[in-house]
Amino acid sequence: MKFTIPTPLQQEHEALHDALRLATQAGGDVGDAARHLAEVMHPHFVKEDEIALPPLGLLGALSRGEFNAEMTDVLALTDRLEAELPAMLAEHKVIVAALQRLQAAAELAGRSDVVAFTKELVQHARTEEDVMYPAAVLVGRHVRLLSAQGAGQRESA
Ligand SMILES: [Fe+2]
Ligand SMILES: [Fe+2]
Repeated sequence: MKFTIPTPLQQEHEALHDALRLATQAGGDVGDAARHLAEVMHPHFVKEDEIALPPLGLLGALSRGEFNAEMTDVLALTDRLEAELPAMLAEHKVIVAALQRLQAAAELAGRSDVVAFTKELVQHARTEEDVMYPAAVLVGRHVRLLSAQGAGQRESA
């Protein structure tokens, strides 16, 4: 089964990517700091788009009480997410440090658009840590429970 990242989250990632791309085209310290940020951020975003955000595509169906056996495919993603969570949180720390450098450079250069982007990205990381990652982990745990219940029901039938 294929799991689709909810559209608003997909668009948020794309918008952040676009803003970063723009910042990397700046000259001087702003461009340098933005390119450094892009280097540390890219593999992290790829991993999120692969394992952290697609499970959230099941939230609607699960919240309506819907379940089917194909949903257990999500466990391959959420098990990896749980295993990689400490590394992903550490990546956020590296990203935030790179963001602080970019913000300082952007403030000096009077690039208020880039300063605004850095604030948005810090907020984005916080939302992921407090809401998105835990929600994706819960999707996996919920699906595992439902699947075990289904197996139990088949055995007792
Ligand atoms: Fe992200
Ligand atoms: Fe992230």
